[in-house]
Amino acid sequence: MEPAASRTPGALGLQLLLCSSLLLNAFLVARHLLSASPPPSELLGGGSLSWALRAAREAESVAVTGCSGHGRVFLDGIVGEDGRPGCECNTCFQGADCSVRTPDCTVNADSGDPMFLEPYWMRHAEASAVVFSGWHRMSYRATNGLFQSVELERSIERLHRAVGNAVPDGKHMVFGTGSVQLISALVYALSPDSNSGSSASVVATAPYYPAYRTGIVLFDSRENHWEGNTARWANGTAGNSTKKNEDVIEFVTSPNNPDAVLRRPVVGGASAIVDHAYYWPHFTHIPAPADEDVMLFTVSKLSGHASSRFGWALIRDEKVAQRAKDYIMQNTMGASRDTQLRMLTIINAILANLHGEEDIFAFGQDVMTAKWRRLNAVVSRSRRISLQKIPPQYCTYFGNIREPSPAYAWMKCEMEEDGDCYEMLLKAKIVTRSGIWNDASSRYTRISLLKSQDDFDLLLERLTELVDAEMDTTSASNSM
Ligand SMILES: Cc1ncc(COP(=O)(O)O)c(C=O)c1O
Repeated sequence: MEPAASRTPGALGLQLLLCSSLLLNAFLVARHLLSASPPPSELLGGGSLSWALRAAREAESVAVTGCSGHGRVFLDGIVGEDGRPGCECNTCFQGADCSVRTPDCTVNADSGDPMFLEPYWMRHAEASAVVFSGWHRMSYRATNGLFQSVELERSIERLHRAVGNAVPDGKHMVFGTGSVQLISALVYALSPDSNSGSSASVVATAPYYPAYRTGIVLFDSRENHWEGNTARWANGTAGNSTKKNEDVIEFVTSPNNPDAVLRRPVVGGASAIVDHAYYWPHFTHIPAPADEDVMLFTVSKLSGHASSRFGWALIRDEKVAQRAKDYIMQNTMGASRDTQLRMLTIINAILANLHGEEDIFAFGQDVMTAKWRRLNAVVSRSRRISLQKIPPQYCTYFGNIREPSPAYAWMKCEMEEDGDCYEMLLKAKIVTRSGIWNDASSRYTRISLLKSQDDFDLLLERLTELVDAEMDTTSASNSM
């Protein structure tokens, strides 16, 4: 039985006041707790985010800084007086926010830096972001004691099948720290054993990607030597009587860097390393899936993530694959596990958008085709410079005939007096890469189209000035 006092009107009022105060307190505490916990979008698998939030906020806060559209802020950029990393400006732009054009600037069309894909990843910021803990995969070894992520291997295989540019079935996949590391690993794997007394001759057809030569010359070993252009092997004037074509390792780049030609091995009986760095639909038509014994790919030219240093080889023969893995093991103990995780996210994001509106190859092809068209429009007015001819071709990936979209322009200087094309363009304030690097004539020079839109627009500006000056000289001499 309740005490009689509680039933009096005054006591009832006191009770009501107490109850409502308790309710109000409960409401305020609940509201405080709810506002402190993350909104529903930050909930994952039933648990709330905690330690990842600071890193995520930091990543987003640098990413939103615009730098006038001519630069970027990076998490690890140089910290300024305000305690924050500052803008890193594109070539020929300067100032705290990169808004100022550097007067009379020399443009750079040298390196194969694949920055043309940066806008794609900015559009796909969410799908390509990677967050991981400070204790993520600290071990030398990953799943099942392996150095390679099984899931990443599977995603790469899926990508090759979906794009139709290579046959992964019946091949062993070997990861490397960029395909540059795999170049050395594959030459080692295909060379005779150091105890055999013989050595391999490594060759390529000019114009070729110079890192084959520089890499072999740098690591000159008992097992292999750089022997230069295949022309001497193909016409039988190379080597000595003890050397057979079986002792030859031929590098084949298809499509070729620098001239975009789809190539095949030319030295019969040799071991071929077929470098398909650019065999993706944003750079070339895909006539059929490649199925050579030893193939090389790099994410640098696929997704544009050159900084991640990641490439892979597809190798038919198990022993050759094992020797390549041994090399990688001795050299770096496998590709960085952090990189492998990032690559898994990137390749899965590419896979998720294939043939859709946000297909990376459609995006890349549009950008590269537009560059090729605009470049041709300027160069075609000139009699002093010319470009390689690339016909439109049927592409199995897009299912149509496609315009050319090469990674590089292979420019020729046509005039007698322009024997050094690189020097001629340098005088016009354009840095290119002389054909001499590719074991070709100095009449040729390579122009990279892979770089940022800023780089390309400035390149076109300088080339237009060069061609306009040629037109002026021609019309002046015609009127004399
Ligand atoms: C034909 C070719 N192979 C390999 C590479 C090297 O790629 P990575 O960035 O993976 O070392 C390049 C880079 O330009 C290239 O052009």
